[in-house]
Amino acid sequence: MKKYVSLFIYLLILSGCTNPGGRSWMIPVTIDPSDLDYTPSSMESFEGRRQLLSDSLSSGYVILRSADQGSFNRHEFRPNNYFYYLTGYTARGSYAILGPEPQATFTLSMPPQSIRTLIYEGGELEEEELMEKYGPDRTLSYREIRALIDSIAKTDTVIYMDRSDRTFLADLQRMAGENGAARFRHIGELVDELRVIKEPMEVEFLQKACNITAKALTNVMKECRPDLYEFQIESVIEGTFLEYGSAMPGFNSIVGSGPNSTILHYEPNTRLMEDGDLLLMDIGAEYGYYTADITRTIPVNGKFSPEQRTIYQLVLDAQLAAIEQMKPGNMFMDGHMAAKEVIVKGLTELGLITDPASPWQIKFYILYPSSHYLGMDVHDVGEMGGSFSTFMEQTPQESQESRVLEPGMVLTIEPGLYFREKGLEQLHEIFGDEADSLEIAQFIKDVGPVYEKYMNIGVRIEDDILITTGGNINLSRYAPKEIEDIEQIMR
Ligand code: GLY
Ligand code: MN
Ligand code: MN
Repeated sequence: MKKYVSLFIYLLILSGCTNPGGRSWMIPVTIDPSDLDYTPSSMESFEGRRQLLSDSLSSGYVILRSADQGSFNRHEFRPNNYFYYLTGYTARGSYAILGPEPQATFTLSMPPQSIRTLIYEGGELEEEELMEKYGPDRTLSYREIRALIDSIAKTDTVIYMDRSDRTFLADLQRMAGENGAARFRHIGELVDELRVIKEPMEVEFLQKACNITAKALTNVMKECRPDLYEFQIESVIEGTFLEYGSAMPGFNSIVGSGPNSTILHYEPNTRLMEDGDLLLMDIGAEYGYYTADITRTIPVNGKFSPEQRTIYQLVLDAQLAAIEQMKPGNMFMDGHMAAKEVIVKGLTELGLITDPASPWQIKFYILYPSSHYLGMDVHDVGEMGGSFSTFMEQTPQESQESRVLEPGMVLTIEPGLYFREKGLEQLHEIFGDEADSLEIAQFIKDVGPVYEKYMNIGVRIEDDILITTGGNINLSRYAPKEIEDIEQIMR
């Protein structure tokens, strides 16, 4: 009998029935970094990418370097994304050259080694191991590859390189001499489209990054209370990242309480949190060089006030409406447009928008497009079918001109509402060119008393969505976001 009782309890836990929201907090993440080990099949992915790239490289060379060799950086070494994406190799001070057809040679250099680097940094792979594991056609020493790069730079061939690596660009330009600059094209022209569609290995890393981040957020929900500093919350977050094998965050953790919750990219994280504050956390663990990007907003004292609840629920409704649009065949901006519709309707009902057709009133509240790609970069590379500013001006019809969603894309959905203390005061300055000053003054008069009630409330809810053939998978689904669930965990 006891056996059946235990089984019943186990099944209850598994089905998530032990909390009122019906969702389980059991986040499937273990402290096991063995998934970062290279297998022959993961090496095939890197080889496949080089193959695809060399198919589109009719002439010219790709020349990439792993990263600056700076020896005592404040932050941990991390390879250049393009270099890693095409090689899988992560040692500092290495170069990769991909040649054009017919040879399509893949050359990888040994990192510079000396007794000093052996003493300070430990050894790198021996040449034979490098050949076997990473599969270059040949390896060269640091000195040899620098000489080869110098000779290629002096010809008039096209060189694809990472133009955001300014130091390397300057280095190549110096090698090329006076007339070379025009030939250095951005490697993104060849690779970014590949990076938009994630392979299974990339999705696995993103899922683990999201699970670790979800774990960090639930840990915060359990430990958060008034009279803690924001950086103490940050330490719970980044401590959890480290605990689960994430070497570093994918971007600076945003941990903003009270008025700081209204600052989109707040970073100091130094304020003492007070009873009655909201706390906005926009964070992402990096795993296998892929980053999560999840935002949750919680009440510091564990219970949303009526005003906080109203705004929170509006943002959540908008976010859920946006996620529903995330399916193949829909457009990149359909999620944003759905969120915008819900928010404009809600704000109008609350008396915070007086004319739902007024573009400037909408832009006052909706500050950015709700989506970006996610991957190795938090704002990952790839064509979205429009720019930030065109997305902000768009009507539903125009949004049809953004890009069609395809299986394998991963993008965020992150609507938010931010009631800055000086928001209304800044209206003339922000929209003086777009709206009549009497119209703005009337708006401030009508909306002011309502706005006052929501002052210093900042809410953003951000999830990471994988487009699949059947619709989507919410990779950040283990981070609670329903009001009852958050309050339940914080009790
Ligand atoms: N964490 C930056 C962003 O959400 O876009
Ligand atoms: Mn974010
Ligand atoms: Mn984001």
